[in-house]
Amino acid sequence: ASEAPEHDVVVIGGGPGGYVAAIKAAQEGLKTACIEKRGALGGTCLNVGCIPSKSLLNNSHIYHQILHDVKNRGIDVGDVKLNLQQMMKAKETSVTGLTKGIEFLFKKNGVDYIKGTGTITGENEIKVNPLEGGEVQTVRAKNIIIATGSEATPFPGLTIDEKRVVTSTGAIALEQVPKKMVVIGGGIIGLEMASVWSRLGSEVTIVEYLGAIGGPGMDADMAKTMQRILTKQGMKFKLNTKVVSGDVSESSVAVNVEAAKGGKAEALDADVVLVAIGRRPYTTGLGLENVGIELDERGRVIVDSEYRTKVPHIRAIGDATFGAMLAHKAEEEGIAAVEYISKGYGHVNYGAIPSVMYTHPEAAWVGQTEQEVKATGKEYNIGSFPFSANSRAKTNLDSEGMVKFITDKETDRILGIHIIGPNAGEMIAEGVLAIEYGASSEDIGRTSHAHPTLSEAFKEAAMACYSKPIHA
Ligand code: FAD
Ligand code: NAI
Repeated sequence: ASEAPEHDVVVIGGGPGGYVAAIKAAQEGLKTACIEKRGALGGTCLNVGCIPSKSLLNNSHIYHQILHDVKNRGIDVGDVKLNLQQMMKAKETSVTGLTKGIEFLFKKNGVDYIKGTGTITGENEIKVNPLEGGEVQTVRAKNIIIATGSEATPFPGLTIDEKRVVTSTGAIALEQVPKKMVVIGGGIIGLEMASVWSRLGSEVTIVEYLGAIGGPGMDADMAKTMQRILTKQGMKFKLNTKVVSGDVSESSVAVNVEAAKGGKAEALDADVVLVAIGRRPYTTGLGLENVGIELDERGRVIVDSEYRTKVPHIRAIGDATFGAMLAHKAEEEGIAAVEYISKGYGHVNYGAIPSVMYTHPEAAWVGQTEQEVKATGKEYNIGSFPFSANSRAKTNLDSEGMVKFITDKETDRILGIHIIGPNAGEMIAEGVLAIEYGASSEDIGRTSHAHPTLSEAFKEAAMACYSKPIHA
C-alpha cells in the first residue's frame, strides 16, 4: 500500500452492530467512518425491526386491553375505535426520533457518517456509491468492520410484494387490518406480528413446520405454555405443517398446506400472508470476492474468535456472521471487535445473551433449555413458580405464566432461566447477571426482592430449586 490509510476504522452498515462499533471506535480515539446505504442510521432494528414492532405491540396491546380487559377493572369506556393511521404515525415518530438520535451521537463522538453503498475493492479500500448520486468515493481504512446485517429469507414460490405477501417489513406497515392473515413460521417474528394483527381484529393462523412454536432456542415447556396462552387470545396454530405453495390473486392469497410428514392437503385463505421463516445474512454487493473473504453454507461471513475474516484487519459482526440474530448481541460484538483493534482483547459471553419475545405476556430466557441440559447427560434440578401465586401479578390481574430455573444438581449453579410473564423481558436482566457471575439458585433465593413485585416470583422459583418456595 503506497497511500496512507485515511481512517483507522471504517464500519460498513449502520445497524446496532455497526453504529455501536463506530461510536466505540471514535471513543477509543480512532479516526472512524460509518457507511450506511438506507438513508437513516439504526439498521434493521431501528427502522424496520425491534423498534417499530415494539411500538405496534405496545399500542395494539393497549387497544386490546381497552376493548376486552378494562371493564372488569372498573373502567367503563364509550365507543372504542382503532385509528390505524395514527398508530402507524406514533410508530414512525419513535423510529425517526431514535434514528436521528444516533446521528446526533455520531456528531458528538466525531464519527464520519457516509451515506451510500460500500463495496470492498481492496484490503484497505472501499468504494462508496453515494445515496444521493454523484461520483463514486474512495475511502481508505486501516481496519474494516463488516456489519451489513441480514434480510428475510424468501419462501420459494411466493413472491414478496410487501402488500399481500409480506415480510416483517410489510407487516409493520399494513394500511388496513386484514380480515384473515396466514403467518408462515411460528418463530419470534411470526408470533410478535400475529399478536399485533390479531389484537387489532385479524383472524390469524400460524403455520409451523416443527412440532413447537417459538423458533430455535425456546424451552419446550415454555413453548407449550405460550401456545396455550396465544390460542386463548384467538390465534390458530397448525403445527407439523408445511406450506406447499401459494396462489396469489388480486384480492386474496390461498396458501396450500399439508402435514409435514405427508398427508391431507388443505388451502388456507388470507388477505395477507406473512413469510417469517427466518433471516439470512446480507452481503450482496459488498465485494467480499475482491479480497477472498469466505462465507459458510448459510451465507455467514466466516470469522475467528476475534471477528477476523481471512483478511485479519477486516472483521465481521452481528447478523452478517455467526450466532443469534439479535440487536444486543450485535452491539456486544461491535464493542468487542473495536476493543480487539484498539487494545488487543475483547469479551462477549455467548452463554449469557438473553432472548425476549414481546408478546403478551412476554417470554424471556437466558442460558440452556431443559432439553439442552438433558442432552449433556448432566443431572439437574428444576425450580418453577407460577405468576398466579405472585401477589403483584394477581393485583395487576395479569398473572399468566411462570419462572423456571434449571440448575446443576451437584453445584446448584444456574444453567438456564426461562420466564413467561408480564415484563419478563425486564426481569430476565437479573437472570443474565446471575449467569454472568456464575450464581447459584441459592444466591438468588437468599437475596431480598421488594414486595409486592413480580420479581418475587423470580426469587421463589430460585428457592424451589434448592429448597421450597413459600407461596406455592
Ligand atoms: P442490521 O441492523 O441489519 O444493519 C445493517 C445495516 O447495514 C443496514 O441498515 C443496511 O442498510 C446496511 N448495509 C448493508 N449492506 C451495506 C453496504 N454494502 N453499504 C452500506 N450499508 C450497508 N432483535 C432484538 O434484539 N430485539 C428485538 O426486539 C428484535 N425485533 C426484531 C423485529 C423484526 C421485525 C426484525 C426483522 C428483527 C428484529 N430483531 C430484534 C433483530 C435485529 O433487528 C437484528 O439482530 C439487528 O438489527 C442486527 O444488527 P446488525 O447491525 O448486525 O444489522
Ligand atoms: P425464527 O428462526 O425465529 O423462526 C422461524 C420459524 O419458521 C421456525 O420456527 C421454523 O421452524 C419455521 N419455518 C421455517 N421454514 C418453514 C416452512 N417452510 N414452513 C413453516 N415453518 C417454517 O425466524 P423469524 O421469526 O423469521 O425471525 C428471524 C430472526 O429475527 C430471529 O433469528 C430473531 O432472532 C430475530 N428477531 C428477534 C426478535 C426479538 O428478539 N424479539 C423479534 C423478531 C425477530
